[in-house]
Amino acid sequence: MIKRLINQSLRLLGYEIRRVPQSPPEPAPPSIEPVWPLPRHANGPSDAEIRHEFARHRLWHYAYEFEGGLSFPARHDHPFQDTNLPGRQLEAFRHFMPDLVDACGGSLAGKRVLDIACNSGFFALQCAFLGAQVVGFDARPELIDEANLLKRITGVETVEFKTLDFWDMSPQTLGGTFDVVLNLGLLYHLPKTLEAIERTKAMARERILLDTAVVPSDAAMIQLNWEEAVDIRMAACDGVVAIPTRAAINLMLKHLRCKGWYEIPIRSANAPTVYLERRRASWIIDI
Ligand SMILES: C[S@@+](CC[C@H](N)C(=O)[O-])C[C@H]1O[C@@H](n2cnc3c(N)ncnc32)[C@H](O)[C@@H]1O
Repeated sequence: MIKRLINQSLRLLGYEIRRVPQSPPEPAPPSIEPVWPLPRHANGPSDAEIRHEFARHRLWHYAYEFEGGLSFPARHDHPFQDTNLPGRQLEAFRHFMPDLVDACGGSLAGKRVLDIACNSGFFALQCAFLGAQVVGFDARPELIDEANLLKRITGVETVEFKTLDFWDMSPQTLGGTFDVVLNLGLLYHLPKTLEAIERTKAMARERILLDTAVVPSDAAMIQLNWEEAVDIRMAACDGVVAIPTRAAINLMLKHLRCKGWYEIPIRSANAPTVYLERRRASWIIDI
């Protein structure tokens, strides 16, 4: 509370204290709960319209629930890993969002946030609920349709969704840079890891939240796979994708002269299995 008041006063005077992270904060940042079930705006679509719109989209990456009891399951052609489990996105939120908010001085209020590869917009909407002005983009137009449906249902006006391919992302295509950039669940669907992080960094003024699948090895290496664009959670087109190890990520952040970073520790046994099994990890990166 005192920390937030000092930060707000300094910001009013045009200053900001920035902690350059080299290790996770001690004690752990206060936990934050996602806004869930999602709220419904009084002038938003009716139950029947929402049911119709959810049915119109064949695939949904996450399950959604709305105030008043409406709920819809995730729908994928290829059931694998743990991403189909209801609540998967909520556990991921509880895993990495407290560190992001803490790194931002205890609040996202007034921050300009970019959600790269936003899918149906779950994390973009949650950042808007936390007070940020958000832009989310994804390569798949049907996902931007889904995100705009959630925007209409919730009535959130501080989020904007666009169809854009990652490799077309630039301050020009997105109206400038952002205080905070979310790069969640995308890196391992792209072929050029170092360039992808470099381009992400070029969009960020303060920090990045990076979340990616990793190869569980201590060596600094990148594993290449072939990925078919067979599902809404996959690469936007068939091709080579690159999965880094943790050590490779650390080396690339050093190469890109990032100011400081740390891997977010697992603080709960309820974290999604991929984190518990060390096949996925998240970083707070000050640029
Ligand atoms: C595993 S999902 C992660 C979605 C979301 N960021 C999250 O964490 O819930 C991967 C997303 O990346 C998107 N994607 C894949 N390749 C992309 C590209 N080249 N440009 C933009 N989005 C892409 C997919 O459409 C999909 O929504």
